[in-house]
Amino acid sequence: MLTRRVLLFIRAKEVFMLPAQRMASVQPSYIRNILKATQGNNVMSLAGGLPDERLFPTRLLDNAARELDQNIEVYQYGLTRGLPALVEHLCAENNLPSDEQLLITTGSQQGLDLICRAYLNPDDRVLAEAPVYLGALQAFQLAQAKVGLIDATSKGPDLDQLEAKLAKGCVKFFYAVPDFHNPTGTCWSKATRIAVAELLDRYEVALIEDVPYRQLRYSGEHLPLVSSLMKGDFFLLNSFSKIATSGMRLGCVQATKKLLQPLITIKQASDLHTALPMQQMLLSLLQAPEFEGHIASLRHHYGQRAQALANALISQIGGRLTFNEVEGGMFLWARINCVNAVSLAQECLKNDLAVVPGQAFWPEGKAGYQAIRLNFTRLAPADLEKAVGRLSSAMSAL
Ligand SMILES: Cc1ncc(COP(=O)(O)O)c(C=O)c1O
Repeated sequence: MLTRRVLLFIRAKEVFMLPAQRMASVQPSYIRNILKATQGNNVMSLAGGLPDERLFPTRLLDNAARELDQNIEVYQYGLTRGLPALVEHLCAENNLPSDEQLLITTGSQQGLDLICRAYLNPDDRVLAEAPVYLGALQAFQLAQAKVGLIDATSKGPDLDQLEAKLAKGCVKFFYAVPDFHNPTGTCWSKATRIAVAELLDRYEVALIEDVPYRQLRYSGEHLPLVSSLMKGDFFLLNSFSKIATSGMRLGCVQATKKLLQPLITIKQASDLHTALPMQQMLLSLLQAPEFEGHIASLRHHYGQRAQALANALISQIGGRLTFNEVEGGMFLWARINCVNAVSLAQECLKNDLAVVPGQAFWPEGKAGYQAIRLNFTRLAPADLEKAVGRLSSAMSAL
């Protein structure tokens, strides 16, 4: 039996423990919710942005874990900037100029959060290509920024819209995922990269370039980073989730030393530093002679899967949806005709299939625009075909 004092205490908590005002502007992630719904049952998922755990470099990681006791200091507190040997390795690998620096983060998502907390005041304006990566949207919303949207085209953001919005002034950042965008899978053309770099420099707006999929290219030519074409300010976010493992939660932010310093101060207050044993294991992985072979194998398998998904969509669904084939990354973005994407996602769940309706990638949905995001990296080709069969049945049922 609850005593009167306990009841009073519970009531008092209900009254006083209100979330901060900034929470009102954050929308919970549809995808994290759907992931919960798909765990531990027969649902096939094309919904998450998950790498295939069967392709994780477990043997190399086992070796790396066994070597940890040779570096006993990694079990101690360390520097906020990251494990010095890892930072040095990455600086050398990426040929960092002397005025730039790297900060190791707990996934690139933390990098985004740190940039927002360090540089955005409530009502500051940020531009982003729409549809937008949900994690970025959440970070901007938490910082109470105003997010202006630029329509995505098959070559990157609509340049006229971008220029018009930049010309209005007072824009703090342009957030971009030029290599195999999440959710559209688009890779910006070289001409778009040059044009965006030129526009941002002209209007003196900083770029946040987010490139977690850059190493997952399956066809086509390697293109320059947009930030490498700029004279002005940028933050470059990288992630090891897609090429090592996502559970290690490792990423990094690259920027000039001056721009990076406020992020380091906030990270100190937030988590002191990212777990050192994980950083040491990542370093061993990156230094292993077999690591290049591991990435080549990921490219081979994921490239095959992208093709298998495209083939299955064409052969089983045909004219009921349209999509652009992708040269890399993890997603295919399918525009659907005559069917509401949210209803389709619900109907798919009845058929034991999870997909994400496109509306989830706009802050307030997008009326009249019907698309779904399909992940092709988690399932093997035969399962992708089966999943498309379920998608086809769900479309027919509607
Ligand atoms: C565009 C983009 N940025 C950042 C992230 C976060 O990656 P991490 O696992 O490094 O936090 C993701 C994850 O899917 C992503 O798609």
